[in-house]
Amino acid sequence: MGMQDQTNSGAKVITSLNLKGGVGKTHLCWLIAGVCQEQRKRCLVLDLDKQGNISSTLLGPTASDLTGCEQFFNPAIDANINSLIAKSELSHIDCVPGSFKLEQYNNTSPGDWEGTGLEQSLVDPLNAVRKFYDYILIDCPADISLITYAALCASDFLMIPLETAQWGALGTQHVLTAFNHVRTSNRPSLKLLGFVASRFKRGRKYQKQYLSELREHFGRDAFETVIPDLAPFEQSVNDRIPIVLHSPSSHAATIARDFFREVEKRSTQR
Ligand SMILES: Nc1ncnc2c1ncn2[C@@H]1O[C@H](COP(=O)(O)OP(=O)(O)OP(=O)(O)O)[C@@H](O)[C@H]1O
Ligand SMILES: [Mg+2]
Repeated sequence: MGMQDQTNSGAKVITSLNLKGGVGKTHLCWLIAGVCQEQRKRCLVLDLDKQGNISSTLLGPTASDLTGCEQFFNPAIDANINSLIAKSELSHIDCVPGSFKLEQYNNTSPGDWEGTGLEQSLVDPLNAVRKFYDYILIDCPADISLITYAALCASDFLMIPLETAQWGALGTQHVLTAFNHVRTSNRPSLKLLGFVASRFKRGRKYQKQYLSELREHFGRDAFETVIPDLAPFEQSVNDRIPIVLHSPSSHAATIARDFFREVEKRSTQR
């Protein structure tokens, strides 16, 4: 076998980002992590959001006491990612938590950090653990800052959640500008995984029409899976149990698995 050996070359690293708040950035990470758990795939979640939403979902209310992602951005520290990885109660999901301690690095003026190399802060840490995971998910805050640049510089894929009918929104444009900037100046291998309608609020019969509009705007870059706004998704977050384990035979769980299958397919083909 030798060189032909199909060994796992390591995790696919996916950043979830949009400049608009509350569009489902964190929820998409939660969905992917949940299906990983169900399918016994190993997943690491990096929480770069100072709100620490996914950290508290995965690790409980004391997550903000932990040392976490802020360490990567402290130039005085040579952060060891292995010591920052926290095990969640779910066997296949680990997390490097985020908390208010990230605030000081949420620097949104590129002039302050460009040229410092700080935007490369996540590259070596992630390379050190890639081989242990199938997916590494990076949950970002709703801004373009040192932190989000660093996420893009260390990622294979960018996933952009959209609330319905906000194509062309300024936030999306800014994300694409940052994406292109990182591709040309830092990481040519970064790819667009796609745009995901993540909080579809109308009935199922409107989905076909919506999807064709989405396709018109983004072509193949639009995910086929539409995530509707459903109470069980919210419940799953509140109960801190992935939807596929919480209500395995529900419509919501089926959507989560469809979404995951499409993430797998897109991240393999692109
Ligand atoms: N498809 C959905 N159905 C029901 N609730 C959802 C869905 N997607 C997200 N939510 C809920 O909506 C709220 C906002 O979603 P989420 O936290 O994922 O957005 P976000 O883009 O990460 O927000 P922020 O910008 O604050 O980080 C959360 O309470 C989440 O649980
Ligand atoms: Mg969030």
